[in-house]
Amino acid sequence: MELVRTVAALGARADAARAAGRRVALVPTMGALHKGHLALVAEARRRAELVIVSIFVNPTQFAPNEDLASYPRDLDGDVAKCRAAGVDVVFAPAPAELYPEGAQTWVEVGELAKPLCGASRPHFFRGVATVVAKLFAAARPHVAVFGEKDYQQLQVVKRLARDLLLGVEVVGVPTAREPDGLARSSRNVYLDAAMRGEALALVRALDAAEALARTGERSPAALLETAHKELLRAPHADVDYVELRDAETLAAVAALDRPAVLALAVRFPAPRAASGAVRLIDNRVLRPGSQEDPR
Ligand code: PAJ
Repeated sequence: MELVRTVAALGARADAARAAGRRVALVPTMGALHKGHLALVAEARRRAELVIVSIFVNPTQFAPNEDLASYPRDLDGDVAKCRAAGVDVVFAPAPAELYPEGAQTWVEVGELAKPLCGASRPHFFRGVATVVAKLFAAARPHVAVFGEKDYQQLQVVKRLARDLLLGVEVVGVPTAREPDGLARSSRNVYLDAAMRGEALALVRALDAAEALARTGERSPAALLETAHKELLRAPHADVDYVELRDAETLAAVAALDRPAVLALAVRFPAPRAASGAVRLIDNRVLRPGSQEDPR
């Protein structure tokens, strides 16, 4: 396995693979790798002969008050995990490699990036879309693998690859979870034991709403109320959003008559995090239940 630090060296490696007729896969990450990231690597491995993992804590997707400085970093540990997972190339550039002096070009995705995390973190998707476009330009992958845990991010990246004619197939991988159901996240390390327990409210909220949808309930208000109630059973949960949106367009839905994503973002107090809180997200695609289904 190779550790590559520059865009030039990465491009040379990718071009050589492409010229030899090998498929190239890219797995973009911000490091602090866990089993969720490694599930993406396994999917990349199935789809390509050259697997590149990028590790870059992208400054432009963090607002000034967010956790850029304290975001968990462990390059040596990450490199070891990548080696064990059969990754071919780890790309870990310095910020100036991806944002050359004087950089002033941004990629902005429209409607898809506005609700949910786009509403609570207005800078976020511009930073994500810009860095992902740069990573695609640098690694020139045939396929890029992203997690469904960041559902809106996956839709935004799919849209940007199509809109900018990048010729990259964007593939989603189901959310990897801890044995008790909590979605794996680099930020889970900030949770103390008590908040780690309360954080299970997210998956309970998704389960409860899904169970209700299965009975045939199609009212967004009823489904959201059920989810919200579960979240509020965690005394320290500070709900950022609980929303039901069309699974493809992320537009608001009047009824669950086609697949819709139930998306949650919740803050918990976390003295270990620089901001004093950790914000967790999770989601589930709900489908219309069968009881009222005439088919
Ligand atoms: P990061 O949070 O490190 O996540 C990297 C990738 O791993 C994303 O595609 C994310 O959806 C996926 N992922 C994280 N936790 C997961 C889990 N529990 N199960 C499955 N996949 C999971 O997302 C980012 O970094 C950045 O925004 C990035 C795309 C790298 C741009 O900077």
